Amino acid sequence: MSRILITSALPYINGIKHLGTLAGSMLPADVYARFQRSRGHETLYICATDEHGTPTELAAAEAGVAPADFCADMHRVQYDLGRRFGLSWDHFGRSSSPQNHRLTQRFAQTLWESGFIEERVTQQVYSLADKRFLPDRYVIGTCPHCGYEAARGDQCENCTRVLDPADLIHPRSAISGSTEIEIRGSKHLFLRQSLFAEKLRGWIEGKKGDWPLLVTSIALKWLDEGLQDRGITRDLAWGVPVNAMDWGPNPDGVLPDAAGLAEKVFYVWFDAPIEYIAATWEWADARAQEAGRDPASDAEWERWWRLPEAADVTYVEFMGKDNVPFHTVGFPCTLIGANERRDAEGRWSGVNNSPWKLVDELKGFNWLDYYGGRFSTSQGRGVFMDAALELLAPDYWRWWLVANAPESSDSSFVWEQFQAQVNADLADVLGNFVNRILKFTETRFEGVVPDGGEAGPLEQKLGIDVAAKLAELTGYLEDREFRKSTTALRQLWVLGNQYLTEAAPWTAMKTDPARAAVAVRTGLNLVALFAKLSEPFIPFAAETIALAVGEDFPGRWPEPGQPLEILPPGRKVQAPEVLFRKIEDSQVAEWIARFGGAETVAEPA
Ligand code: MF3
Ligand code: ZN
Repeated sequence: MSRILITSALPYINGIKHLGTLAGSMLPADVYARFQRSRGHETLYICATDEHGTPTELAAAEAGVAPADFCADMHRVQYDLGRRFGLSWDHFGRSSSPQNHRLTQRFAQTLWESGFIEERVTQQVYSLADKRFLPDRYVIGTCPHCGYEAARGDQCENCTRVLDPADLIHPRSAISGSTEIEIRGSKHLFLRQSLFAEKLRGWIEGKKGDWPLLVTSIALKWLDEGLQDRGITRDLAWGVPVNAMDWGPNPDGVLPDAAGLAEKVFYVWFDAPIEYIAATWEWADARAQEAGRDPASDAEWERWWRLPEAADVTYVEFMGKDNVPFHTVGFPCTLIGANERRDAEGRWSGVNNSPWKLVDELKGFNWLDYYGGRFSTSQGRGVFMDAALELLAPDYWRWWLVANAPESSDSSFVWEQFQAQVNADLADVLGNFVNRILKFTETRFEGVVPDGGEAGPLEQKLGIDVAAKLAELTGYLEDREFRKSTTALRQLWVLGNQYLTEAAPWTAMKTDPARAAVAVRTGLNLVALFAKLSEPFIPFAAETIALAVGEDFPGRWPEPGQPLEILPPGRKVQAPEVLFRKIEDSQVAEWIARFGGAETVAEPA
């Protein structure tokens, strides 16, 4: 037994997520969490909504509600959708939680007192009409690199370059549209990331060959371009307040200018990853409360995050490629910085005798596209989680999204291909197998696992083939190779169908009832096995299948060499309702008309 901590990138609060977000972070994290739990490992899967920053303020303003109310509502919506998709979070927290406020401020204070934060007066866009600073997306203007006219202050959507609001040509306010804008000085805190460049490079180099190439190459590209110090505060109202009142002096004896920093909040990319830790604290508090204790002791959540208690924890992160820099550079700087201290001469020394744990395994994904163009929240292109569940049960989506995970390159959602694959895999192969054997048991064996007969060469060969595929499947899941794992699972289902065809209990029934009993018993045991192995991918159908053969759910992942026969003869079994109905051509036509097909990607993403 070991402990496994899993996090998936925190979804932004400002809207329902599309299938691309699900496919590149939350869903694979869930598959992995379910797999590790079923192997008996103590597993903690943590996620949360990412609630701060200008997109939240803008979305709340558009909805005409206060950011706090907007976030509370949207958190409920996202939680509900995630649950309906079967996401087995141990906790789905909120980055606006009191725990995250406290931790974010605590990290910043430690980083200040350790000499890794400094104050700088920066040039910010100020709107005379709105009487406020306009950070990040509050400014819209022309991209200085590509000339795109609707570039936002933090990033140009057209050329993807990261921008500073003051770089924009013809800036205007996203709030009022006003162009009455001037540049004013404003004091901010900067995390001195440049000091960490060498340490980070050594750490990332050590992950080469272990982490996906996609991940190490993005991280090294950032380091090669020269690590910049990063502004970690903003002139905004909604966020974690800086609250530097009682911070101590830095190693040079300087106190922070609390007055100059009042009314500022931390930048969303500073507090969001800290929420991974804070959500673990929220989880511990919720458990303490359930047990009638309130609140949790720090030790209860720190045992997942701080060494030496967390030495047996493997920490695994899941995210899309755009998030990789923040998790290989930004967040590690926060954690490493909190573990170290710089003296007045600039020498570093570890000060923290209970250092924070860094990520062990980082799984990054490419994009899932919609017909070769980007899914787009702002333009509403593609299928979103709420709409998807209106059309089909979650397992259809889960299966296709994992089987087509954008691992080695971008992949594309196309309705006809989706239809063809789920019909073939889920209806024709798995559904057909389960139905065939259970119906036959009902009609010819009174719905009971038959006794008698002895395994022959056919069963021996099946045993060898199944064991080999099972080892493959287990290995792929351990390595977080999701596409390959679905291939191995599908091949196991196919082995079941092939076996039934060859063993043909319906024919043997007439001449050799004992042979038929062996075949049926073997088939039913495969059903029980498939329920366990399918659970990480299609948990809803897996539960139905497990119950059909009277097995517990969720079951335990089989150990290598474990006998396949687990069902006691004489047990009552029952064919389930149709597991997977085939998707009809008429449905596909209707969905293409509703969501758009190939023609939707004519304009540039
Ligand atoms: N909200 C970000 C996104 O969707 C991800 C934040 S991950 C975190 O891209 F770790 F920073 F929270
Ligand atoms: Zn641009």
